[in-house]
Amino acid sequence: MEKAIGIYDSGVGGLSVLRELTKQLPHHKFLYYADTAHMPYGERSQQEIITFSKQIIDFLSRQGAAMIVVACNTSSAIALPTLISRVSVPLLGMIEPAVSAAGDYKSLGLLATAATVASGAYAKAVARAGSVQKIYSVACPKLVPLVEKGIFHGPQVRSALTEYTAPLLALGVECIILGCTHYPFLKEELTEIAAGKAEILDPAREVAKRAALMAQSLFLPAEEGSVYYYTSGSAQGFKELAGKLLGTEPQSVSRVFLGGE
Ligand code: DGL
Repeated sequence: MEKAIGIYDSGVGGLSVLRELTKQLPHHKFLYYADTAHMPYGERSQQEIITFSKQIIDFLSRQGAAMIVVACNTSSAIALPTLISRVSVPLLGMIEPAVSAAGDYKSLGLLATAATVASGAYAKAVARAGSVQKIYSVACPKLVPLVEKGIFHGPQVRSALTEYTAPLLALGVECIILGCTHYPFLKEELTEIAAGKAEILDPAREVAKRAALMAQSLFLPAEEGSVYYYTSGSAQGFKELAGKLLGTEPQSVSRVFLGGE
């Protein structure tokens, strides 16, 4: 019987969502796929992002996922609108929950990948929510490679974050949405930079809340609680980095390459 919750990202970013999911659903079974071989998605074409996402969704479904959390804003922005009606498993993306979590602010800043910013998906979601909020976006190509290298603090991180947030802070936005799941791992530095000027919003909690409701509506069983990891890149590399990010090294990591260059 299909009873696990699938979750995927281009790399370790989705772990920022997984840690909220396991907090809210500690007894469920999770299957996490990191497409490290194809990372960063933010610099990929729309067709590539759709193809990779579809391969992962099909793989996770075959492994027993009854629902899938798209823990990647880039895939949520580009692939989800196309794939949601083409796959049989229910999908939950990042963008609607993020916009809803930011509902109380009048002006929003968005830090995201180049592909997410170019898609205009956040502005469209704000409009769909019937909100009059203004949203200003900045593409941040330097951030994902830093996180994937295990660099979360220090001069490189500070200088990139200062560069990307400067236009948003100059516009006086009230809240900055972390519109890429890798960015919460840089939140400490970012909070210092934006202190007293803007709130920093990590949408993961809202996503996990919605995932919990979805899991309940699908009657997914709460058992002993487990996470199995798959990566298209190096299993050892993923294990070490995930260990740094989560505080404990994952036990079960398998390399599964699904195709593509
Ligand atoms: N973590 C992903 C996101 O939320 C994508 C990062 C990337 O591969 O560019 O957008």
